[in-house]
Amino acid sequence: MIKWEKSKYSEKVRKFLSMPPEDFPLFTLLDGAVRSGKTLSIIQKIPQIFEFVGTEYLKVFSGYSRNSVKNNVLIELKPFIEDYLGGKVRYNHSNGEMEIKLFGKRYDCYVTGGGKSDSLNAIQGGTWDFWYANELPRHNYGFYNMALSRLTPANARAFADSNPESSNHWLYTEKIKPWLDGDKNIRQVFKYLHFTMHDNANLSEVFIKNQEKLYKGAFKKRKIDGLWVIAEGLVYDTFCPEKHTVSHSKLFERIQKGEIAEYFLGIDWGWNHPTACLLLGNTPDGMCYVIDELYSQKLDADGVIKWINRKQTEYKKFFSYANCDNARPEQNEKLRRYTNLVIYEEKPKVEDSISLVRSLINYDRLIVSDKCLHTLEEFSLYRYEQDALSAKDSPLKINDDCMDALRYGLYKYLTENP
Ligand SMILES: Nc1ncnc2c1ncn2[C@@H]1O[C@H](COP(=O)(O)OP(=O)(O)OP(=O)(O)O)[C@@H](O)[C@H]1O
Ligand SMILES: [Mg+2]
Repeated sequence: MIKWEKSKYSEKVRKFLSMPPEDFPLFTLLDGAVRSGKTLSIIQKIPQIFEFVGTEYLKVFSGYSRNSVKNNVLIELKPFIEDYLGGKVRYNHSNGEMEIKLFGKRYDCYVTGGGKSDSLNAIQGGTWDFWYANELPRHNYGFYNMALSRLTPANARAFADSNPESSNHWLYTEKIKPWLDGDKNIRQVFKYLHFTMHDNANLSEVFIKNQEKLYKGAFKKRKIDGLWVIAEGLVYDTFCPEKHTVSHSKLFERIQKGEIAEYFLGIDWGWNHPTACLLLGNTPDGMCYVIDELYSQKLDADGVIKWINRKQTEYKKFFSYANCDNARPEQNEKLRRYTNLVIYEEKPKVEDSISLVRSLINYDRLIVSDKCLHTLEEFSLYRYEQDALSAKDSPLKINDDCMDALRYGLYKYLTENP
């Protein structure tokens, strides 16, 4: 437990703690390195913010799970309120209800997990005037949006802490990046404070030095410097969105002008994992386009057949063939029967087909429509195991649905048209 009377404060923490509540926008994020003092700074700010927002509405504490809020936040908040400030905290872990009595006022609070996709059921309805999200990037995106929409009173305030993740994370692309770029609309509602370990005056230099030795590369950048960076180990690390994407309307014009010679598909079957089906096309001079994507859970052959037929009508083109995941022969048989396409089931070796795709990218011969959001996302996530450089030929089996469909489709095309 923290000995609050012995706390030391860096310039940055002091500034945060002394800033009047009315000067904070709706939503403030304390982000940065591990152990940099983010959580404890927010805990110390809570009494003042409660006093400011008043007792009328509910106050919510969320984390990945209710347990993680308990372990990361309540464990320090309770003794801080009770032993240090003379208040009282009553908390029922089974239903998440919490009552905080402080300086003669009673605040009704609710503690909940926000990490799972069904988390938002627990928070529908109701008005909040305070929200503390511990480890915000680990929250479910739906929960996060729902939570922000609950904060309707004019003086409502939200605080969150976070450790950096990949720079493709929604928190980075939707809030931090625009804030850093000076986006005026974002800055009216969102404030970003960046912490490094050196902003925590309670850590010893020795501890910081030792931590710095523990990590390297992208993980050092994240954990120690607190930066949002893409980790090493991307399979398609030369894929560059600025260079290798095209707006769908431009691509559609090319299709209408007849610049695409042949249309073909790559299909990776799933059920609990999504099924991914990519519409690909090539030009006579050897460019390949990812034109469209189907990406959905619990979708069988009938759904894919419908999509293929709809897309043939939409683009006014016939598609020639599909190369499909051979794990589901009965689905492939259905495609054979109910579409006009030639259906192949040639499952290429992972590393062989990755090399083919990678060389297309390196020669700037692969361009993806900006309509294919899942494909683009996977390009930035599909990676090899971090620590096992020796196991480099086996990418992690996550964020790979569109990537597999892409490999199947392009492998068939490239082995016939090298
Ligand atoms: N005001 C303080 N008084 C005493 N110790 C503190 C104080 N603030 C931080 N510390 C020390 O620094 C450690 C890290 O602080 P805190 O948990 O707030 O960091 P964090 O940035 O939230 O870290 P993480 O990213 O790992 O969650 C605490 O466990 C505590 O030992
Ligand atoms: Mg923390």
